[in-house]
Amino acid sequence: MLENKKILIGVTGSIAAYKIILLIRLLVKEGAEVKIIVTKAATDFVSPLILSTLSKNIVLQDLSLNSEWANHVQLGRWADVFIIAPLSCNTLAKFTAGICDNLLLATYLSATCPVVLAPAMDEDMWKHPSTKRNIETVKSFGNHIINVGSGELASGLIGEGRMAEPEQIITYLKETFFRTKELHGKTVLITAGPTYESLDPVRFISNYSSGKMGFALAEEMFAKGASVILVTGPTKEVLAFEGIKRVDVVSANDMFNACMENAPTSDILIMSAAVADYTPITIEKEKIKKKEDSLSVELTKTRDILFSLGQQKTSNQFLVGFALETNNEMDNALQKLHKKKADCIVLNSLNDKNAGFGYDTNKITILHKSGETVEFDLKNKKEVAKDIVSFIISKLND
Ligand code: CTP
Repeated sequence: MLENKKILIGVTGSIAAYKIILLIRLLVKEGAEVKIIVTKAATDFVSPLILSTLSKNIVLQDLSLNSEWANHVQLGRWADVFIIAPLSCNTLAKFTAGICDNLLLATYLSATCPVVLAPAMDEDMWKHPSTKRNIETVKSFGNHIINVGSGELASGLIGEGRMAEPEQIITYLKETFFRTKELHGKTVLITAGPTYESLDPVRFISNYSSGKMGFALAEEMFAKGASVILVTGPTKEVLAFEGIKRVDVVSANDMFNACMENAPTSDILIMSAAVADYTPITIEKEKIKKKEDSLSVELTKTRDILFSLGQQKTSNQFLVGFALETNNEMDNALQKLHKKKADCIVLNSLNDKNAGFGYDTNKITILHKSGETVEFDLKNKKEVAKDIVSFIISKLND
């Protein structure tokens, strides 16, 4: 998402300036082009040499350099986004008043690109009425604010005022400015993770699904501009983007209900969850006690969400199922494709090394209802999600 994006970073005098080293590294790693302006105070906290080495560009501080004018107007036009991080209390106040006594301020005042501010200060400064007022003022100018976090501050006190972490800043930039438009206007419903089928108040039946594949799909769909609803079973996974609607469920029955509620308004439906096929007929109210040498639990079939969605699918909906197989992979996946009336099935085999449940990597084959079959190499699940989403987009545009 950040490939070839031009990011201008303004660094002001704050202890949080050390975090900019990581921010630059992450941006450059993702393919962004980075230029940096510092204030004089910033150079007390972070060395321009580190910043220029990591960004592969000279670091600008003065309105002129070696008798040449540092063109602040051009800088603000070059950038896709200008982010001031960390933003000190002092520079914030100058922004509100339109003061222009250094290169960073001149660039801010003449920037035509979006401006993002990541404040960093001590809690008492952050909570001071003048800071509150100044933040409201710069917001009213159309500047974007990345909220401060809570935690240990430079003063040693614990409280609000920490600058957002570099990873959060990157996610904010991606979410706010760099989503693409391929799926703009489309709503995508995705299921992820395992389901838990309760036996008693402390035990359940489940499987090893981590949810990683479904989460990666949700993020990739969102990056391509779609509105995304992710219905997920219990998982440790965390979504990168705040804009994705996450619906947490526990059992197959809960997942079924959440999908039925959201399906009618969805254009693309991707069932990547490992839903339990059977659930205990009764959930014991008290903990099951250890008595006999063996124990039988009677199970009943759960409702098949993918199958039900296939039955009610409209001609405008695109339905994707998953098949995790251990034997007769292609035949089983083809049967699922037809029986469940999906548009395509993503097949992954447990016989492929490092693929499937629990791994960060996956190896898939996509079977389309037209008979087309596309095989992919073993890849990171985020890359696999890109392949699946590109495949779906190509079929929508057929
Ligand atoms: N699925 C579903 N609801 C269920 C069971 C499965 O929506 N109650 C979906 C899965 O999310 C997946 C597809 O159906 O997209 C295939 O799931 P899988 O477990 O591989 O197949 P089953 O139909 O359950 O058949 P089996 O377990 O016998 O292979």
